[in-house]
Amino acid sequence: MKIGIFGSGLMGGKLGTLWAASGHDVTFAYARSASKLERLAQDSGAAHGSVAEAVEGADALLLAVHWSRVGDVLDQAGDLAGKIVLNCCVPLDAANRDLVVGTTSSGAEELAKMRPEARWVSCFNTTPSESFAPVFARKGQAPAPQVFIYGDDSGAKDIAGQLIRDIGFEPLDTGGLRNGRYIEPFAMATVELAYVQPGGPALTYRFTKLRG
Ligand SMILES: NC(=O)c1ccc[n+]([C@@H]2O[C@H](COP(=O)([O-])OP(=O)(O)OC[C@H]3O[C@@H](n4cnc5c(N)ncnc54)[C@H](OP(=O)(O)O)[C@@H]3O)[C@@H](O)[C@H]2O)c1
Repeated sequence: MKIGIFGSGLMGGKLGTLWAASGHDVTFAYARSASKLERLAQDSGAAHGSVAEAVEGADALLLAVHWSRVGDVLDQAGDLAGKIVLNCCVPLDAANRDLVVGTTSSGAEELAKMRPEARWVSCFNTTPSESFAPVFARKGQAPAPQVFIYGDDSGAKDIAGQLIRDIGFEPLDTGGLRNGRYIEPFAMATVELAYVQPGGPALTYRFTKLRG
């Protein structure tokens, strides 16, 4: 698959690197320094370019920037008609402390309002980036950790699900974009568990339904 990465930091850099290692054709875009994009691309056998170049011919895009940068990235992206966009952003304030959207809407829904022509699917926003490499290293070992995946476009969810499996996670269908209202606040609980509570940041989760 041809994948464009908008925001090549902790999330975009790591996910793009693992997708490239899984055989995908990845283009890194959107960082403050061109040399960082160049290095990431070189280290992972991927490409780098402008946001508009990353959109060209892409089967899937990953939006992985601070919420305050979302408008800028979308402006640079141009036409996203029919494009599948995986969103891992949490709509946080500048201090990364409080949600700036919530309860009556969500970041996921706001993005879909900004760009209704794109095929939005949210995932990875409740998964600390520190877990990606260890999960990838254990790929194939059951049970796989889960990743919430939510959106209103079932085809986009299928593609995102494949990309989630490619790096060793199992997609957990958590309904439509509207459920971002509840899942995005949960991301803050995963931040507490990963970065404040003891045990290190490589946090994963797996929900179980008991039978009998
Ligand atoms: N980190 C996590 O574990 C985690 C987990 C769940 C959800 N999230 C969400 O995922 C999103 C991305 O988080 P992240 O941790 O990957 O952030 P990050 O490491 O700060 O990466 C953001 C990327 O955006 C680029 N950028 C920022 N300002 C820019 C500007 N003015 N012009 C061009 N590029 C700019 C950065 O460039 P540089 O590379 O040059 O700095 C970087 O490549 C956020 O919405 C966050 O809430 C993160």
